Amino acid sequence: MSSTLESDAVATTLERLLTAEDKQDLAAAWKAAGVDLRGEFPAEMSAAEMAERTKDIIMSVSRPGGQLLYLLTRTLRARTVVEFGTSFGISTLYLAAAVRDNGGGQVITTELQPDKARQATENFAAAGLADLVDVRLGDARETLRELPDDVDMLLLDGWLDLRLPILRVVEPRLRPGALVVIDDVDLDIGRGVYAEFRDYISDPANGYFSLTLPVHQGVQLALKLG
Ligand SMILES: C[S@@+](CC[C@H](N)C(=O)[O-])C[C@H]1O[C@@H](n2cnc3c(N)ncnc32)[C@H](O)[C@@H]1O
Repeated sequence: MSSTLESDAVATTLERLLTAEDKQDLAAAWKAAGVDLRGEFPAEMSAAEMAERTKDIIMSVSRPGGQLLYLLTRTLRARTVVEFGTSFGISTLYLAAAVRDNGGGQVITTELQPDKARQATENFAAAGLADLVDVRLGDARETLRELPDDVDMLLLDGWLDLRLPILRVVEPRLRPGALVVIDDVDLDIGRGVYAEFRDYISDPANGYFSLTLPVHQGVQLALKLG
């Protein structure tokens, strides 16, 4: 039995997107967007403005990060997965392939930038996974308010400073034993923007057990205790 990840449609779509990403000069692209990632996190810029300025930049989970998402989703036997930050849908493809191989379910993903949401939707169709993905256009602080009660897994991959507010929105819907996956935790640029999130998730009073894996720029896993 083979994995959906290896099916022609999914593999071809992922390869097309990841190859395009490899060809980007990421530092130059961020600079052209007016965001200096070596400087302060642009707190004065709204999430929407930053999404607009960076709408052509592919900034996905890494290949091993994507494979880890597939593996974790399969291991959890997850049927309901929520994602903050769709972009062009690379991480979503790994998640949806795993949900399909778990027997079906849904990946609810949300993106603020309309062109990206449209292209991601096209990518899900090209991969043959559109029936598993609910793409919600808009600000995750609003679009993730309506969720099923039994979320198995949450991927936080949108702007760093919004990860704690988004976790707090989704948290009541996480089932005991759900997994929260947070990408790029070592990319804590500027004024320690990630510190507040890290403090929250590592405080036992908040009910998580977490560990950071040295995958690409750091992938943190947090188990929601029952
Ligand atoms: C790092 S990218 C996500 C990459 C994607 N998970 C992947 O692996 O291909 C972050 C995305 O979050 C989106 N975003 C940022 N703030 C948002 C918000 N408040 N609501 C929804 N999407 C948001 C950005 O427009 C951007 O496309």
